[in-house]
Amino acid sequence: MKVLLVGASGYIGSAVSSHLAAAGHQVVALVRTPGRSDVRHEQRVADLTDPASLSRAVTSDIDAVINLATPTGDASADAAATTALTDPLRGTGRAFVYASGVWVLGATGPAAADESAPVNPLPIVGYRPSIERQVLDLAADGVRATVIRPGVVHGNGGGIPALLVELARKHGHPTYVGEGSVHWPMVHVEDLAELFVATVERAPAGSLWHGVAESSVLVRDLAAAAGAVAGVAGEPQPWPLEDARAELGAPFADALALDQTVSGEAARTGLDWLPRRAGAIADVRELS
Ligand SMILES: NC(=O)c1ccc[n+]([C@@H]2O[C@H](COP(=O)([O-])OP(=O)(O)OC[C@H]3O[C@@H](n4cnc5c(N)ncnc54)[C@H](OP(=O)(O)O)[C@@H]3O)[C@@H](O)[C@H]2O)c1
Repeated sequence: MKVLLVGASGYIGSAVSSHLAAAGHQVVALVRTPGRSDVRHEQRVADLTDPASLSRAVTSDIDAVINLATPTGDASADAAATTALTDPLRGTGRAFVYASGVWVLGATGPAAADESAPVNPLPIVGYRPSIERQVLDLAADGVRATVIRPGVVHGNGGGIPALLVELARKHGHPTYVGEGSVHWPMVHVEDLAELFVATVERAPAGSLWHGVAESSVLVRDLAAAAGAVAGVAGEPQPWPLEDARAELGAPFADALALDQTVSGEAARTGLDWLPRRAGAIADVRELS
């Protein structure tokens, strides 16, 4: 397939482009500035805030589009971007994959939330459920439209867990935001990339998948591993939410303090997805 990848230069997008190419697909990277030397694929220049540039990039030779870009923060701009990327696919059966995230579920409690669980988004992802609906509704218009909600992504030295190492260094002790009982659903970036490939290749129109390998990782344990990497000893200590909000901004701090247990079983059974990389705690330990 010839796959147009929006967000190809990003943390997840870089891994997805490598796995698409390894699976024999041709990647066309959508970039905001021409001639990106860090993107080793054919490039087309466009921006989520410029719908006409997006529609121009979806030429008739493109078999599938994946949107892995950070949203603009403006609900109507992101809805318009989704329309622009998908209008050329209508009635063709070509694929569109939208990356959302598990934060749309809000706090889940200890029972694992699957894809049928109701959404209850935090402000940081407030309008994303409406974009998910916009995408999934395209199944009725002849687009093989699908949504993936990744968990908190780790691996390759990046992602939010790397922030815990920085926080430990800065605070002089292992640090987590909020309560000691908080859990994050997590996924290694290489496993997640394989889920994007499986989805673009064979997921049915209108399907939604949680990209989660570990349904609930105790963030306190993750912070302890991050502290060891940072070379700071001691028991993990909470960073009070109000202090974290003041420094990181309330939307992001609240997301870090979110307690979630999320199931990724559906993708394992429905798409034969087999996450096999190191778990988050082992992976953070390897950062040293
Ligand atoms: N990382 C996680 O733990 C996680 C978890 C769940 C969901 N997600 C979602 O997955 C997606 C990718 O996350 P990530 O961690 O890979 O983010 P990232 O590393 O920040 O990459 C974001 C990508 O989006 C591109 N981009 C940003 N604004 C754009 C615009 N206006 N037009 C076109 N492209 C634009 C960036 O291009 P430039 O190189 O030009 O900046 C970059 O390629 C996001 O939607 C995120 O919310 C991430």
